[in-house]
Amino acid sequence: MWVAAHANSVSQVFAERSCRVRPVAEPVPAVLDRRPAGEIFSHLVRMIDGDRHDQPKLALQRALSSISESEVITRSTQTAEFELPTILDPDALTAWVYETPVAVVADLLGLPTDDRSAIARDVRDFVLCLSSLSTPDQLENANAAALRLRSQLQDALGAIQRNSDSLVSRVLASAQNVCWTDNASIIANLVGLLSQTYEATAGLIGNSIVALVSHPRLLGEVRSRVDGWQQLVHETSRYESPVQNTRRFVVELTTVGGVDLKPGAAILLVLAAANRDANANPDPERFLLDRADRRVFTFSRGPHACPGEAIARSIAASALSVLERRLDRPALDQLAWEWKPSQNGRLPLFHDGNATRTA
Ligand code: HEM
Repeated sequence: MWVAAHANSVSQVFAERSCRVRPVAEPVPAVLDRRPAGEIFSHLVRMIDGDRHDQPKLALQRALSSISESEVITRSTQTAEFELPTILDPDALTAWVYETPVAVVADLLGLPTDDRSAIARDVRDFVLCLSSLSTPDQLENANAAALRLRSQLQDALGAIQRNSDSLVSRVLASAQNVCWTDNASIIANLVGLLSQTYEATAGLIGNSIVALVSHPRLLGEVRSRVDGWQQLVHETSRYESPVQNTRRFVVELTTVGGVDLKPGAAILLVLAAANRDANANPDPERFLLDRADRRVFTFSRGPHACPGEAIARSIAASALSVLERRLDRPALDQLAWEWKPSQNGRLPLFHDGNATRTA
């Protein structure tokens, strides 16, 4: 596998239409083929290229960008208040970090959120189908979760007249505008909004807390600025990227950084390394709230650029500003964490220094 780790080479690969998101011979991982999770996977804009990608992507992008920042802030603030943990209870903190973002997006979609833990559990189980580290049992759970999520989103589509301002309604309206009519594909991509949110946005919140623990003066700096939480989240997305890497597969002879890449070649794009390339961000090892012209690769670039970046950053900053009243130096100093085993995520699981936990 080729590795692109500099800002320039990562940008070039992202811009190349001949570098695809899946190997041509295996559009859906063999273990998921003809299973419920595989059915959803086969439609996700994240996992397809070309015309099948561009039209749904445009619809999703338009629907997501039609939600105002103030609406995201209001819903995130309300959601974050629910079971707000103390920093001295690392299990509760971990649960809150992982459940809050997906509950906000479920709420935006118009799904009932009275049992937010159940939604978070289903999304957690479903995303395991995306990892080749998953066991057969985890894949079975992913299939069961895929069926439950699909049925919830189907119900939400059916209830659309009654809740016309929801993200589900907005996606449907944008889909009609771009003639995206395949119902199975629309439902799969609504599930995709939950799965794309889940770990990455939890990682952004969790890594912002890690930054506060690791840089003793940071909490004071954040509190002294009007845009402190937004800047903390933005610099965290660069410095400790929750998504460390992504992949591309070459379909036509392509040259990147003077290297000829043959059809069939695979490329690992190390987003976390590009974020710390001094040519993109001078003095890259310093965590700077007021970093000028910050260049962040965490949300991808080019045709597959993340359409949820603004929402993700807003959810994270709002959730952290709610957590603020529970933050103080002595409590932060007691917090420990381990990194969740993952091929591409940098995701903290908090503990008190003695125990290990899973999310
Ligand atoms: C911190 C949080 C997030 C991070 C770091 C993140 C990162 C990414 C990255 C790296 C990709 C593209 C991967 C590639 O090019 O190979 C992506 C795609 C995507 N993300 Fe996000 N994302 C986040 C949150 C969200 C949220 C909240 C949503 C929606 C509500 C979302 C929706 C999507 C969708 C639909 C795609 C597929 C786009 C396409 O392939 O054209 N993401 N995200």
